[in-house]
Amino acid sequence: MSHASPMISENIETYLREHENKGLLRFITCGSVDDGKSTLIGRLLFESKLLFEDQLAAIEADSKKYGTQGTEMDFALLVDGLAAEREQGITIDVAYRFFSTDKRKFIVADTPGHEQYTRNMVTGASNADAAILMVDARHGILTQTRRHSFLMSLIGMRRLVVAINKMDLVDYSKARFDEIVEAYRAFAKQLGLEAITFIPMSALKGDNVIEHGHHMPWYHGPTLMAYLETVEVDEERQQRLPLRLPVQWVNRPNLDFRGFTGMIASGSVKPGDAIRVQPSGKTSRVARIYTFDGDLPEAIAGQSVTLLLEDEIDISRGDVISGVEQPAETADQFETSLVWMHDEPLLPGRPYLMKLGTQTVSATVTDIKYQVNVNTLDHTAAKQLDLNAIGICTLSLNKAVAFDPYKENADTGGFILIDRMTNNTVGAGMLHFALRRSQNIHRQHVDIDKQARAVSKGQHPAVLWFTGLSGAGKSTIANRVEKKLHAAGQHTYLLDGDNVRHGLNRDLGFTDADRVENIRRVGEVARLMVDAGLIVLTSFISPFRSERQLARDLVEEDEFIEIFVDTPLDVAEQRDPKGLYRKARRGELKNFTGIDSAYEPPENPDLHIRTDEISSDEAAEAIIALLRERQIVA
Ligand code: ADX
Repeated sequence: MSHASPMISENIETYLREHENKGLLRFITCGSVDDGKSTLIGRLLFESKLLFEDQLAAIEADSKKYGTQGTEMDFALLVDGLAAEREQGITIDVAYRFFSTDKRKFIVADTPGHEQYTRNMVTGASNADAAILMVDARHGILTQTRRHSFLMSLIGMRRLVVAINKMDLVDYSKARFDEIVEAYRAFAKQLGLEAITFIPMSALKGDNVIEHGHHMPWYHGPTLMAYLETVEVDEERQQRLPLRLPVQWVNRPNLDFRGFTGMIASGSVKPGDAIRVQPSGKTSRVARIYTFDGDLPEAIAGQSVTLLLEDEIDISRGDVISGVEQPAETADQFETSLVWMHDEPLLPGRPYLMKLGTQTVSATVTDIKYQVNVNTLDHTAAKQLDLNAIGICTLSLNKAVAFDPYKENADTGGFILIDRMTNNTVGAGMLHFALRRSQNIHRQHVDIDKQARAVSKGQHPAVLWFTGLSGAGKSTIANRVEKKLHAAGQHTYLLDGDNVRHGLNRDLGFTDADRVENIRRVGEVARLMVDAGLIVLTSFISPFRSERQLARDLVEEDEFIEIFVDTPLDVAEQRDPKGLYRKARRGELKNFTGIDSAYEPPENPDLHIRTDEISSDEAAEAIIALLRERQIVA
């Protein structure tokens, strides 16, 4: 994959847009190599004009300007320029090819078909207008056919061609063709796949690819090329949907007005139209549609515009502008399907960043309802989602977003999840519907607040979060600190791993998923205790940065103090106060932190205590000194 600069990509995008009047169809091919996918693509490329001469020249000029060499690289630039995955930061094995006929330009995404490439197929297909599913006429529907069909239904592929290939090897038999069509229809019905076109084909001999040929006079449908040249592209469909304008930024095109800029995801808009802004629900009317080249009388899906409104209302990046009649919905909890795309598994309870259109919020999977076995389509229970796994999950956000169900509008219902620590795209998903509980549970206003409770205790509430290996000395030090605070008249509480795991968290073990949940609950309890005005000390290994960050985010900036109790593994192991390291080394205890389970040391702790350098009494003194410095205690 290339690493084209955005500049180059934009040039090519502009260039392609200039030729847009001819229309662009993106499609994906699936099925295994044996089904004749490569032969088919080869034939399509060969029998149509490849890239236009001038198009090639433009790419070449770009490449020279930016110092890249070789034609392969040039095509990669073109791909990068077009692909939405550039924005999403996904660059995985999807090969794109380009060709054109007099009627249309085409981009075909060819993804490897094996199960370990599920994420590639989902990525390639999510940007495609149509999919061609290759079936070998001799073999009919195979496991792979089912898997790929499921993936197409998952991402809501609206136009599916089932190309029943190698008809030459079954004597161009109509009976065989009908048999496969019938079997496939029955299967597709379960998946809710609609609008399927079946084409009997011989990619090798050329029958029904570009020309009908003379071997199958019983077939009266379109050739594959005729289909590709005439089928509706997504952009045309988006224009018929209700207006959705995800706001990319707020600007002032002139001194009098604020403008709201973004690309129209669906529908159209005219001056005078009544609009509603979600999630706030505020309404106004469109005063002008501003562009650099003057005002527009109307704008449609696919256009980037700036709207000026009649009223000065508060709109920010990420809001969605809809027509008043059919506005987007808003919610903060959803049922979704989720495709996991990263080696590190999805762990329920862990916070990720969710990008939905131009909105970015914090999101947590609260529950994996089930995982789908992509080969059998069976539902199985799952505690986590591994690479390429697909799950039906409930997702909870830190604030409400504007959305549409994915089935109705892929642009406002499709999202990606990003790891907050590494910024990698780790998952892609589709919103099914809002959970009603999110609409029915409101926050209760209470009159006695944290401030009032803290004042009556005469202290500043805070969380002292101790983290470190088992045997590092967290509990010993926390215990000393609490004694000192107590002696000074402070109201404190010590939450200790070994104790909490006997009560509140006795259902949890030591898998990564259970540790995430352990710390999430402890974070919530600590938050409640801070709200009660207490100084809370927590002593948990808390091995992952994500969850320590989550705990930090639950309270105010100045209320969280992370204390890294740093003891080299071999020292902790020598101490081995509970004999657990020995057990783990003997293989009698699985997933032991430091042995066969990870510990991610804090990168910026508020205090770093090296227990091999200072005593626990000195450590406690250092902590009290920090609390004074931060004015938590006097
Ligand atoms: S955490 O990783 O989820 O934060 P927590 O602090 O609650 O762990 O519990 C750690 C304590 O549980 C250790 O001090 C140790 O006594 C005990 N323990 C039992 N099994 C394990 C294990 N596999 N890994 C780590 N600690 C374990």
